[in-house]
Amino acid sequence: MLSWLSFTTKIKLFYFKFLSYNLFHKNMNLLAIETSCDETALAIFNFDKKQKKEIKFSVLSNHVLSQINIHREFGGVFPALAKREHAKNIVQIFEECLKEANLYKEKSVKIRDTKKKKIKKLLERESEMCGEILSLAQKIEKPDIDAAAITSGPGLAPALWVGINFAKALNILWGIKIYPINHMEGHIISAFVSPISEKNFLIKDISYPALALLISGGHTEINYFEKIGKYKKIGQTVDDATGEAFDKVARSLGLPYPGGPEISKIAALARTNNLQIEKEFKLPRPMLHSSDLNFSFSGLKTAVINTIKKMKEANKSDEEIKNKIALDFENAVTEILIKKIKDAVEKYNAKSLVIGGGVIANTFIRKNFLEFSEKENLNLYLPEKFLTGDNAFMIGTVALHKIVNGKKKTKIKNIKADSNWSVENL
Ligand code: KG4
Ligand code: ZN
Repeated sequence: MLSWLSFTTKIKLFYFKFLSYNLFHKNMNLLAIETSCDETALAIFNFDKKQKKEIKFSVLSNHVLSQINIHREFGGVFPALAKREHAKNIVQIFEECLKEANLYKEKSVKIRDTKKKKIKKLLERESEMCGEILSLAQKIEKPDIDAAAITSGPGLAPALWVGINFAKALNILWGIKIYPINHMEGHIISAFVSPISEKNFLIKDISYPALALLISGGHTEINYFEKIGKYKKIGQTVDDATGEAFDKVARSLGLPYPGGPEISKIAALARTNNLQIEKEFKLPRPMLHSSDLNFSFSGLKTAVINTIKKMKEANKSDEEIKNKIALDFENAVTEILIKKIKDAVEKYNAKSLVIGGGVIANTFIRKNFLEFSEKENLNLYLPEKFLTGDNAFMIGTVALHKIVNGKKKTKIKNIKADSNWSVENL
């Protein structure tokens, strides 16, 4: 079509198109790393840094390695073991991610001694991981990764440090910038993520004011926010977290860790069978009518232990005890969560509700919140099921939101594990 143009004009046109494209678009690859608890997870995103509003991105790879089978025999997550497993697996998962993202280019590379020394010093307590990183770096060319998002809290400090030090080693090797990310903000933002196709996603805009209910193994809190990145805690548990209560109750019923999915399965079946809960099996609803937006789950756990004991003395079968307690416990937790959110929505005139954390994998809780939001005319954002548990995808979404909005990278020496980092202090 342009054949009548001279060769030099064509070159000029091409150059102009190239320049203007780069002025308005800047594609980047982001590596996300999550090691705060018992999942070693890595993901790679590709996105345009210069986009605004509803942010789109492609997922080039997304891996989650769960350590659940290793921790199960301890009835919970054992920090030293979690650290060891992260260090053992992270480099191999990174290699797999690079291959899947087509960023793994074999080439024999010589690493400068100064770099080697720095990495060895950084990883002196993770010598096996150090050896694996160095040997990988000697066999591939610098992968096309512009930045790394790393969970730096909250979580188990020894586990967090593995991911942080891994990212720092990548920074020494290849100059990859690092964005420290709050794990709980990952649970919040991943709830706005909506799939466009199998590998393409969108971070939706939401209407404000909004509330974020975080329900996981370590957290139960309600945050108020009018924009992403600025949260105010308006309610929280005064003792156990929701997931922790599920896990403890499950243990009392002789069910394996993690207890949430186990209890949920039993309760769902009991509900389908229309199982009736007699008065002697009924559990309390702690703080249901308290005037604040706080929660308490440890009383519920104690009530479960006492009920089990009483019902055993009354010669009820283990099966009956398990079914009725699982059912009423799930009902109680759901009732409490909904009531507190109802109060919070009224008090703060919220237009949107976002729910994040492992417990929102629970089908019954999801269903009840869907019905509740419909009745209350509230916009509800729930994460896709594959994003409910811990993963690196959610960490990537926070970093990508920050990058698109012009947030600067953090100085490497300031990046530390902060096991109690609250989303209020971002
Ligand atoms: O967010 P998460 O994966 O890890 C933390 O950051 O804590 O949450 C883990 C928690 C565990 O306590 C687990 O029992 C709970 O989420 N959980 C569930 C369900 N699936 C996982 N709780 C209730 N119902 C479920 N289906
Ligand atoms: Zn989590």
